Amino acid sequence: MLGAVQSAILCALVCASSARAACPAPCECSEAAQTVKCVSKDLREIPAGIPGYTRNLFILGNQITRIGPESFKGLENVTNLSLSNNRIAQLESGAFGGLHSLRSLDLSGNELRELQPGALTVPAPLRDLNLSQALHSRSALPALAWALRGGVFGGLAQLDLSANGLVLLPSAMFLPLGALRRLLLANNSLVALQNGSLLGLERLAWLDLSLNGFRTFRKEALGELDRLGGARLLLGGNPLACVCGAEDFADWLNGSYARVADGDRLVCASPPEMHNTTLRTLGGRDLGCHGDGAGEGAELALQTSYAFLGVVLGLVGVVFLCVLYLNRTGIKKWVTDLREACRDVLEGYHYRYEIDSDPRLGPPPSSAHL
Ligand SMILES: *[C@@H]1O[C@H](CO)[C@@H](O)[C@H](O)[C@H]1NC(C)=O
Ligand SMILES: *[C@@H]1O[C@H](CO)[C@@H](O)[C@H](O)[C@H]1NC(C)=O
Ligand SMILES: *[C@@H]1O[C@H](CO)[C@@H](O)[C@H](O)[C@H]1NC(C)=O
Ligand SMILES: *[C@@H]1O[C@H](CO)[C@@H](O)[C@H](O)[C@H]1NC(C)=O
Ligand SMILES: *[C@@H]1O[C@H](CO)[C@@H](O)[C@H](O)[C@H]1NC(C)=O
Ligand SMILES: *[C@@H]1O[C@H](CO)[C@@H](O)[C@H](O)[C@H]1NC(C)=O
Ligand SMILES: *[C@@H]1O[C@H](CO)[C@@H](O)[C@H](O)[C@H]1NC(C)=O
Repeated sequence: MLGAVQSAILCALVCASSARAACPAPCECSEAAQTVKCVSKDLREIPAGIPGYTRNLFILGNQITRIGPESFKGLENVTNLSLSNNRIAQLESGAFGGLHSLRSLDLSGNELRELQPGALTVPAPLRDLNLSQALHSRSALPALAWALRGGVFGGLAQLDLSANGLVLLPSAMFLPLGALRRLLLANNSLVALQNGSLLGLERLAWLDLSLNGFRTFRKEALGELDRLGGARLLLGGNPLACVCGAEDFADWLNGSYARVADGDRLVCASPPEMHNTTLRTLGGRDLGCHGDGAGEGAELALQTSYAFLGVVLGLVGVVFLCVLYLNRTGIKKWVTDLREACRDVLEGYHYRYEIDSDPRLGPPPSSAHL
């Protein structure tokens, strides 16, 4: 009897502690570190039974395709969540709505196509959002801009949007991110910054625009960069064209290169004769702005005028052919006349030639001296 009670008590203790320490089969849990890791386990969805003590949750390298409002039930203590390198395409509304302590969300390396309204709404002020190589379709960026506007991102300090193939930034996209310190836009396909692209980033300290498609930064873009105040900038790895159109940028760089962290390493990618030249040391004359007008503007104008000339010549040719066709009888007559005139002339010439070369008219002058 006593033994049965003892074993019941023992069981209760063991069961309770194992319930507390329960860990989803494919994962590793550490209560001491308040950390759960489910790494490369072919998971198709967020496993059930993640313990409530979890603060750091890493579900990396699996095959998860969607996150819904039920995915993180009862995980009010999770502060850092990484879902990196899954195949998440769809974030449903309220996907992170139960994560009352969330500070850092890593969605890098996913295939986001659909962000339902409210998909990124987090109950606590998020500090760190990683969307590197995460946006898989064109529609994901407007959806993200929309989500940023609708959510509470006033506390966000770092946003990583690198390697997403972004071509342009919607105007005022970052306006809701007034506390942002670091904005990472490296390795996209950006070619220009429009007026308003960087609006609202008053507290930015670091902007990475390296490895994009910028050939230069025009006045409008430089205005946007100046809007950032003292933020340090990374601009390397862009295919900078050192032509006259880059004069504003070269001047700006010479004036404010202390702000450009890699300012000394910015080199020309084109034209070929300028390849690998340091841009900062180039003045307007080096860029071909003054003098022979070999700058981009002049080149472009020249190309345009050649194209125009080509079109005009083509039109003239067509008109000429039409005239020829419509006048074909008159032309035939003209050709006949011409041929006859030629024949007359040729015959006269031929006749004269025959007379000149007639041997009976005397010996050739060369033999006269012999
Ligand atoms: C979250 O953490 C607090 C304090 O550590 C704890 O009291 C609470 O039970 C935890 N929540 C869950 C669901 O375990
Ligand atoms: C949690 O995220 C913060 C950034 O928000 C980071 O400083 C910290 O190292 C992260 N902790 C873990 C365990 O990854
Ligand atoms: C975002 O995730 C990528 C890939 O996982 C990583 O390389 C990068 O360092 C992360 N960004 C930040 C700011 O931590
Ligand atoms: C740039 O992004 C592509 C995917 O868009 C990735 O494959 C590549 O490794 C990235 N390169 C660098 C230098 O980060
Ligand atoms: C940018 O747009 C604002 C209004 O939206 C305007 O006041 C400002 O002059 C514009 N700046 C440039 C450089 O076009
Ligand atoms: C460009 O110049 C750097 C040193 O200034 C050199 O190391 C590099 O090989 C050069 N690259 C090319 C393609 O010439
Ligand atoms: C760079 O700026 C300095 C003054 O800060 C000026 O003396 C110099 O001529 C400028 N260089 C070029 C290439 O514009």
